[in-house]
Amino acid sequence: MKTLSLLTLALHFTAVMLLVGSLLAVTWWSLSGRLRKNATELSSAHVLARRLPTLMTYVINLGVPPLLFAQVLYGRAIYTSSVLIAASWISVIAMLIVAYRLLYIIPDRLQAGKSAFLPAVVAFLLVLGVGRIYSLNMTLMLRPEVWQSMYAASDQGIAPVPADPTITYRWLFVMFGGVIFGGAWMLLLANMKHLESDVVAKLRKTGVAFVVAGAIPQLFFAYQTRAAQDAKTLETLASYPIAMTGGYIYLLTTLAVAGLTLAMFKKASLGLAIANVVAGFLQVTGMTLYRDGLRDAVFAQKGFSVFERTEVSNWSVIAIFLVLFVIGLALVFWLAMVMKGAKPLDESVPVEPVSPDRISTDKAVLA
Ligand code: HEM
Repeated sequence: MKTLSLLTLALHFTAVMLLVGSLLAVTWWSLSGRLRKNATELSSAHVLARRLPTLMTYVINLGVPPLLFAQVLYGRAIYTSSVLIAASWISVIAMLIVAYRLLYIIPDRLQAGKSAFLPAVVAFLLVLGVGRIYSLNMTLMLRPEVWQSMYAASDQGIAPVPADPTITYRWLFVMFGGVIFGGAWMLLLANMKHLESDVVAKLRKTGVAFVVAGAIPQLFFAYQTRAAQDAKTLETLASYPIAMTGGYIYLLTTLAVAGLTLAMFKKASLGLAIANVVAGFLQVTGMTLYRDGLRDAVFAQKGFSVFERTEVSNWSVIAIFLVLFVIGLALVFWLAMVMKGAKPLDESVPVEPVSPDRISTDKAVLA
């Protein structure tokens, strides 16, 4: 259960980070490209924006399995914290629906030569908000000592969460991971042969800047999250070899991502860009292992050990899950290959609104 939870969660975090970083760039370019009538920025925004709905699919579908595993492993904690912040927790669904719809509107507006800034900024804020609520819940579940007073304050799930020094650091850690992954994603997309050379250059340069601008604050937030723990928790954490290895993997792969990125400063390279995304995934996996160990170390101080939990596995269901999961991953790989081999569309967009006829023709070609 732990292994599956960690694997699917690392994939979820990767998808979340790709979404956050892409949306940040799309929001910025939608504004500055339009104000400065810069076709390169608008086309670069469109290249990222066209892929946003697909990314959101992965964010959600790869979020469901770790949620199920977290319920099996930490049910008593996560159910309680979810009930205590019920109002904001349930509002995640509405926020996601609105953000998802906006992700379809953004590329359509860019393609029509219209401003996509408003839908982009609203979607970006909603996504940040969802991440914030997740950090709120994943932190509150670790604090049984505040549950009773919160419930006494409100049984409607609207009581404020007592201050915790780690909530913001944890949230910003993942959001700045988005800046790193957004950069790695741009460096990968910059290898698409059908893109105009100015768009390729824009994606490459911004990609490098994003990775550097994301990695430095992320290391700071990782340090702060650790520094906010008490000595006993850190001592227990140090006795978990898998979590500690995860921590070292995180640090080493952060260096690898920085090195690979800087190697692409002058020229795009498909090989380096793929290695960069793989290193990025390993970085997230390392962080996921460390984060998981930290949670168990915090719980250990409060008398809860996940390994002492009685869990009666339904092996046939787990086997079916595993088989379907592997088939799913293979299908995703196959889809990516089909996309890679497909005839590319013109991804450049106009700086001024165009007639609806052209858009419907484009859509017909797309169909
Ligand atoms: C825009 C959408 C989303 C964003 C930005 C987002 C962001 C995050 C963040 C920041 C965390 C880490 C919280 C922390 O530890 O401080 C997290 C954890 C998590 N997310 Fe998401 N998330 C999104 C959607 C979803 C969805 C739709 C699901 C499930 C249906 C989901 C399931 C999970 C689970 C289960 C965890 C933690 C699991 C664990 O600790 O074992 N997320 N997410």
